[in-house]
Amino acid sequence: MKALVTGISGFVGSHMAEYLLDNNVEVIGTIRNRSRMEHILHIQDQVHLVECELRDPFSVESLLTQERPDLIFHLAAQSFVPTSWNSPVDTIHNNVAGQLNIFEAVRRLDLDCRIQIACSSEEYGHVEPDETPIREENPLRPLSPYAVSKAAQDYLGYQYFKSYGLHVIRTRTFNHTGPRRGEQFVTSNFAKQIAEIEKGIRHSKVSVGNLNAKRDFTDVRDVVRAYWLALEHGEAGDCYNIASGSCVTIREMLDMLLSMSTVSIDIVPDPSRMRPSDVEILLGDMTKFSNQTGWKPEIPFEQTLRDLLNYWRER
Ligand code: GDD
Repeated sequence: MKALVTGISGFVGSHMAEYLLDNNVEVIGTIRNRSRMEHILHIQDQVHLVECELRDPFSVESLLTQERPDLIFHLAAQSFVPTSWNSPVDTIHNNVAGQLNIFEAVRRLDLDCRIQIACSSEEYGHVEPDETPIREENPLRPLSPYAVSKAAQDYLGYQYFKSYGLHVIRTRTFNHTGPRRGEQFVTSNFAKQIAEIEKGIRHSKVSVGNLNAKRDFTDVRDVVRAYWLALEHGEAGDCYNIASGSCVTIREMLDMLLSMSTVSIDIVPDPSRMRPSDVEILLGDMTKFSNQTGWKPEIPFEQTLRDLLNYWRER
């Protein structure tokens, strides 16, 4: 069994590769010449890394012609919501064209492979109070260019299944975190600031944005297991929420992190961290996925946050 992981050097990609290696799957991963390799240094001898620009159809077609994978985990993306306000065209182009190039190459080469695409709970966007926990049938009301790019990826997954029979599984993953999470994302950002205060290299203030937003967090290690199960047991063409089924406010998440530290810390609002429009609540119903695959998250959120804080303490 051969699996291709796009974005293997990223946060989820590196955990996905570890999971696949642990399950004796041959792993090929795409990198770009500017990819940072720190997350995969420890496994670089066990995986086959190929330089590939997903936005370039020729680059993608030659990769797939050569490798002919059985499974594709398409994780590469511009995944930070605020960047999509500053670079909307780049976000749409990167996320949509990258996926289209994969789909087109698979179709034209007539590859018999299963493809998981990393869609997002951000696609649901504005959610009415009586619409939680959010089910897959909920309307998509995206509130950022990033969310629109993910909705486009999602619909293209549906369309390529319907039009050409591509075996695509659309995973709509709610927030996920854990060791190696990029420092711009909220859990990692706060954990890093706290670790720096503990080390005495930062004043004793944590800068924050909107603390009222509610998010449903799952550990990345549970998420990559979900992606594997999605390709093992998911219905081709279908979409599935990957979520824990409970949510916290960002303030509650910060308080959990603060309770894991003994130093005294002030919380300071930073207006530059506020967004033009923020998704107020993302709370997912993952019953459909759970019934289909037997998946349930196993790692408690407190453990995830502790592992993340320790990750930053050790750096
Ligand atoms: N990044 C960040 N930094 N967010 C902050 C901060 C801060 O200092 N303070 C408050 N927040 C709030 C944001 O306004 C948002 O409501 C929430 O914390 C989470 O922000 P992020 O961690 O940046 O994640 P996200 O919810 O925008 O998007 C993540 O989850 C999606 C799935 O729902 C990303 O991982 C996406 O790629 C993913 O698709």
